[in-house]
Amino acid sequence: MSNIARGLEGINVTATKLCRIDGLKGELVYAGYDIYELAEKSTFEEVLFLLWNNRLPNAAELAELDKNLKSERNLDDVVDRLLRELWPHVRPMRTLEIAVEVLGAIDPKSGELTQPQLRLTAQRLTAKMATVIASYHRLRNGQEPVPPRDDLGHAANFLWMLTGEEPNALHKRVFDVAMILHAEHEMNASTFSAMVTGSTLSDMYSAIASAIGTLKGPLHGGANEAVYRTVDAIKEERNIASYVEALLARGERVMGIGHRIYKTTDPRAVILEKLGHEVAETSPDRWYFDLSLKLRDYLARKLEGKPLYPNVDFFSASVYKMLGIPSDLYTPIFALARISGWTAHLLEQYADNRLMRPNALYEGNESRKYAPIGQR
Ligand code: ACO
Repeated sequence: MSNIARGLEGINVTATKLCRIDGLKGELVYAGYDIYELAEKSTFEEVLFLLWNNRLPNAAELAELDKNLKSERNLDDVVDRLLRELWPHVRPMRTLEIAVEVLGAIDPKSGELTQPQLRLTAQRLTAKMATVIASYHRLRNGQEPVPPRDDLGHAANFLWMLTGEEPNALHKRVFDVAMILHAEHEMNASTFSAMVTGSTLSDMYSAIASAIGTLKGPLHGGANEAVYRTVDAIKEERNIASYVEALLARGERVMGIGHRIYKTTDPRAVILEKLGHEVAETSPDRWYFDLSLKLRDYLARKLEGKPLYPNVDFFSASVYKMLGIPSDLYTPIFALARISGWTAHLLEQYADNRLMRPNALYEGNESRKYAPIGQR
């Protein structure tokens, strides 16, 4: 076992200019810009441009990107019809995965892996995935999809398409920051998944569908929905200890806690907690956020000495709950933000590709005699 890197821990599979994480210091940096500064000063669209171009946009470039994204928001008829068929049978993450593959199927240039074409695909997916999830949600509620609004930015427009109501200024900003925080995270499992698919020179749509399938798991993006279920099941502060003790006694993990890279608090959780306090001021669901804080405090005492701290999913669950977003959309929303990092890594990779093909150490039988079926 000694020369096996289980879970590929500590292995560099590529070089990137996109993101640097220092898990001991709790640092997250996109293309040289600290996440705290980006969360305070930038917008999701600016971060998109940064990740796709390795520099911040000027005003004209940002306006151009904004215009291009808006022009891609509407869904093709076939995707619209697909959603109307799918929603009774398929959960949102798989819906997104299927819709992305269908978008690839109807794009005659999906196999054209030139940088300009890949950039168009990245814009298209970023814009349309938001519409897919919002439309899916409307349809399952027996409502017609809400057309996108050109006077709203990407994050605010998503909330608008979801509810048909314009979010207030605080909710717009908080959701935009949540999108920034989830935009990119170096070589996480879903990004790696996208890159494995892309490394075969399969197209960007299939690479993104792979990433969506990987993000869905509860050890990765699916943790935010699992955090929701945890806090919802605990219900009251007095149940925290018994709930956590029983869970750990069963050998299970507390969702939203721990991280492969961060051995201190995830900076994204720090920022989301701060925003959570602001949203809680006026939220009818503040009990949920308050209970999350109590759970966090209990776990800090319980897990003292272990490098287990709240990760981004711990607080995205309570922030999204207070924004009125249904819990099964938390992970799809993660995908709507992470599409920026996935596509940015794919742009880097397609420009300088090498097939991802590691080894497995064989420890099975050798030289076995093949017995005819009647003699087994
Ligand atoms: N609750 C309780 N104990 C935990 C947790 C947890 N959430 N996470 C890790 N541990 C314990 C493990 O049981 C193990 O204990 P041991 O050494 O006594 O056996 C030790 O901490 C180390 O765990 P590993 O499995 O080696 O850590 P790994 O790096 O593989 O796991 C992971 C990282 C998967 C994120 C893990 O912390 C976990 O399962 N967390 C809960 C799921 C979650 O929140 N995922 C979202 C991550 S953030 C993201 O993907 C956006």
